[in-house]
Amino acid sequence: MSDVDAQKRAAGEAAAQLVEDGMVVGLGTGSTAAWFVRALAARGLNLTCVATSQATADLATSLGLTVAELGETRPIDLTVDGADEIGPGLALIKGGGAALLREKLVWEASHRSVVIADAAKQVAVLGKFPLPIEVVAFGHKTTALRICDVLSEFEIAMMPRLRVTDGAPVRTDGGNLIYDAACGAIVEPAALAAALKSLTGVVEHGLFLDLADQALIGTANGVTTLEP
Ligand code: A5P
Repeated sequence: MSDVDAQKRAAGEAAAQLVEDGMVVGLGTGSTAAWFVRALAARGLNLTCVATSQATADLATSLGLTVAELGETRPIDLTVDGADEIGPGLALIKGGGAALLREKLVWEASHRSVVIADAAKQVAVLGKFPLPIEVVAFGHKTTALRICDVLSEFEIAMMPRLRVTDGAPVRTDGGNLIYDAACGAIVEPAALAAALKSLTGVVEHGLFLDLADQALIGTANGVTTLEP
């Protein structure tokens, strides 16, 4: 196992220890969240889980966890999920796994949300990782131009790129498309988030601001806990 994977695993296993019997638990998406799901299943607690993607729902079900739809359980006690970048104040970029919409729906419905990651995810300024933006398929090229206009208002000069895998546009679990905006540095994340959200055709963006209550970061020297 690589050092990075060991850090992801340590963070996921530490987060699994936060879960108590009887909880409703939100399950994140991605390789770090998968370590959490595996460690959680291994604890054998009586839980109800809400998954942030079909891939995570499939993993959780295969491990014997009970998965319910968002809104069909009592409120979520704790959600644990990965991130692509963790900035000051636990501001995050998420969506590298194209699950940002369901992730944000679950996070916002959770009493508490904990982000787990390897040490390389922690940054001084958000934006080196391209910001994922989920858009409806209809008219998506027009929406992308409007996203470009918004970015230029923030002195970010770049055209967002449609995410493509194996020659075909990536479709989210909701059937939408993803554009990735290589911003470089996002100096005003809250203002950019609001401006992107105001665009017709934009379903959601990967800026998670004021949502994480705690971070568990796997490092070479163990798991570090961060608060906003
Ligand atoms: C999924 O859409 C993302 O938000 C993931 O949580 C993020 O990409 C982190 O993935 P890894 O844990 O695989 O790095």
